[in-house]
Amino acid sequence: MTDSSTPSIETAPSSEAKLGSTTDTGAPAISDRNSLTIGADGPILLHDVQLISQMAHFNRERVPERNVHAKGSGAFGVFETTHDVSRYTKAALFQKGVSTDMLARFSTVAGEQGSPDTWRDPRGFSLKFYTTEGNYDLVGNNTPIFFVRDTMKFPHFIRSQKRRAATGLRDNHMQWDFWTLNPESAHQVTYLMGDRGIPKTFRHMNGYGSHTYLWINADGEKFWVKYHFHSNQGVEGLTGDEATRIAGQDADYHRRDLSDAIDAGDFPSWTLSVQVMPYDDAKTYPINPFDLTKVWPHSDYPLIEVGQMTLNKNPDNFFAQIEQAAFAPSSIVPGIGFSPDKMLLGRAFAYADTQRYRIGPNYLQLPVNRPRVKDYNSYVQDGPMAYDFDGEDRPVYAPNSEGRGYSDQVGEVDGSWETDGEMVRAAYTPREKDDDFTQAGMLVREVWNDEQRAAFVETVAGHLLGDVKSPVLERAFDYWKNVDSTTGDAIEKAVRAGQKSQNPGGEADAAKEVEDPLVETAGQ
Ligand code: HEM
Repeated sequence: MTDSSTPSIETAPSSEAKLGSTTDTGAPAISDRNSLTIGADGPILLHDVQLISQMAHFNRERVPERNVHAKGSGAFGVFETTHDVSRYTKAALFQKGVSTDMLARFSTVAGEQGSPDTWRDPRGFSLKFYTTEGNYDLVGNNTPIFFVRDTMKFPHFIRSQKRRAATGLRDNHMQWDFWTLNPESAHQVTYLMGDRGIPKTFRHMNGYGSHTYLWINADGEKFWVKYHFHSNQGVEGLTGDEATRIAGQDADYHRRDLSDAIDAGDFPSWTLSVQVMPYDDAKTYPINPFDLTKVWPHSDYPLIEVGQMTLNKNPDNFFAQIEQAAFAPSSIVPGIGFSPDKMLLGRAFAYADTQRYRIGPNYLQLPVNRPRVKDYNSYVQDGPMAYDFDGEDRPVYAPNSEGRGYSDQVGEVDGSWETDGEMVRAAYTPREKDDDFTQAGMLVREVWNDEQRAAFVETVAGHLLGDVKSPVLERAFDYWKNVDSTTGDAIEKAVRAGQKSQNPGGEADAAKEVEDPLVETAGQ
């Protein structure tokens, strides 16, 4: 069948390839280019074990993408504690002069793996510190606040931001329906629609721990803290138009920027400062200090500098080191604890749980995730892909009488806070300054200038126009009037004008009075 006078379409001389690969079980491989067939034009054979292993492995090459924050980028670096904060925490990594290796991953939230980096969305700001006392993960965002304040709402919130069940399309109506029925979102949505809503690059955004955490010093004294990582590159954003254009030109714009900067030796860095609230202040502070939709005014709790984080090494393999990286708010170390924030407590469960599923139950044995402590002695064992074992026939149970150490502290735990009362399902007990709109209004009126307010009105009106229908649209106007009446009026005016020009002569759909049966029930 083969005509030897016809030039071969193969360009490389397959029989002379000298390098030599192996099969995945380590034997010399015969060919990475031609399947085993009966004659050159005949069918391929099932006992071509190399072909079968290539195909079978290929079929299993992806782990599920993260349910949220699927599109991201990361790099390794170092955190150096430059200031003495030992009066607030005994955590080894935050002692002056200590340098700790770390990994950072930045991400969008709602988009899938291939989605554009420049869509309007908060950005994840995940940090893993490989400390001498175990891994410490701080899994925050580029905003100091969040959309909701109870874990129970999180899956609902995410479903409203992702894709519509029937069409598989993102849907602004669904987003505004959720936001306006959960007015505690106002502060975060204001931030998102403002000029920090789309960072210019990952290097040009701040990072926040967002939640309130507990710090404990060597004497057992406790403090509430909030983390602020300020970009040393400065904070810069993209306009909506710039972001849309870039999304079409280069969906990986932020990933490329981070990788290129580090390759060029232009290492991005951030300064960490914390706000520290004395433990007892939390009982009487007029804003609930554990409410994730609120910030603590810096005039009450000024920033205290801690150290510098610098990213100086790109991953060698994106899949192994970034895709399989597992960040979890549950990874804490001595000197750091949780707070009664109902979001943080839910997150303390969610991440390791999803990672056992997304990557596999032994994900902590992968080099990027494994703790770098000297005396690692976890009793967790077995499970798929178990790799670590110490070679000795040691007891796998505790307590034991064969000398393998185990822990047995009793009494009050280090990071404790007191609480009592009936078991209830309720929103946080409101405090004097706990309403949903004041801090959002302050951002609009006191932080932004006229130009920023005008851009904000344009962004929100653009988001509302078209997809968002009554009664959600009217609810959105009320939502913004509650934040700031002038801005709310301007948004309504811009949307009505837009509707008119889209539908000249037609009755503006939303200009009619609309009864909203849900507005009464919207609340905390
Ligand atoms: C990722 C759940 C709230 C920041 C994730 C993942 C889950 C999750 C399941 C995927 C993790 C993985 O596959 O490795 C939740 C739940 C929340 C919550 C249940 C509320 C109770 C938040 C908040 C923030 C945040 C408030 C920021 C302040 C992140 C970040 C990632 C992430 C940055 C990406 C981690 C990475 O880079 O690998 N979240 N989340 N999440 N979440 Fe949340």
